[in-house]
Amino acid sequence: MKNLVAGNWKMHLSPGEVAGYAGRFISGTADLAGKVDLLVCPSFPALPAAVAAFRGTHVAVGAQNMHQELSGAFTGEVSGAALVDLGVGWVILGHSERRHVYGETDALVLAKLKRAHELGLRPIVCVGELLEERDRGETEAVLGRQFYQSLAGVGPTLAVKTVLAYEPVWAIGTGRTATPETAQEAHSFLRRLLRETLDRAAEGVRILYGGSVKPDNARELMAQADVNGVLVGGASLDPEKFAAIARAGA
Ligand code: PGA
Repeated sequence: MKNLVAGNWKMHLSPGEVAGYAGRFISGTADLAGKVDLLVCPSFPALPAAVAAFRGTHVAVGAQNMHQELSGAFTGEVSGAALVDLGVGWVILGHSERRHVYGETDALVLAKLKRAHELGLRPIVCVGELLEERDRGETEAVLGRQFYQSLAGVGPTLAVKTVLAYEPVWAIGTGRTATPETAQEAHSFLRRLLRETLDRAAEGVRILYGGSVKPDNARELMAQADVNGVLVGGASLDPEKFAAIARAGA
C-alpha cells in the first residue's frame, strides 16, 4: 500500500500564494510520482487556484471540511456538491479543530462522511484523544467511540474507501509529536477495529498519523507497520519542507 502524504493548510496561504507554492512543490516532488500519493488541502477560497495549479500533476487537491447537505439556507457553509463541481477530489472530515473548536459531533461527522461518499469525494476522517483523556487512560475508549460512531457507521463497502487519520489532539500544532511507538500503538488498535468491521479488507485501509509531523520525524513514523501516511499541518505550508516529508513517504 502506497503512503498518502497530505497537507492541511488550515487558514493559511491565500489564493495568490498558491501558484508559487505549487510550482515549487511539483518540481520538488517530480521524481516521487507513482511512489507516494500526495494531497494538499487549501482553504475554500484557495481551492480554485489549487485545482488549476495541480491539474494533470501527481498532486491531488482536497478541502478541509464540507456541509452534510447538498444545498440550503446554511449561511457561511460550503456544499460537497460545489467542491465536486470545482474539481476537488478529497475532503478532510472531523478534524480535531472542527470537533473541539466548532463542536462537531460524531453523528455530524458520519452524516458528512455519507454525503462525501455519495458525491464521490474521497474522505479522510480524523480521530484522536485529548491530553486529559490520554492521561486518564481513555485513549482506546475515545478512539473506539469515534471510530464506531463516525466511521464504521457507513458500512463495510464505504468504510474501505475511507482514509482514517489518527491525530492525538495534544500533538497538533504543539511541536509534541507522538513517538513512533505511541503512534503505532494507536494505529494497531484502529487496525483491530477495522478488522472487526471489515475483515481482511481492513488491511487495505490507510491510517494516517497527524500531529507535529516534520521532515525529521516523518520517515520513522511512516516506518511503523500500521502508519500508512501522514496528515501534516504547519510543515505543509513550506513547499520544500513538505516535499521532504513526501520523500520520506516514498
Ligand atoms: P500540525 O497539524 O502538523 O501543525 O501539528 C496537524 C493537523 O492538524 O492536521
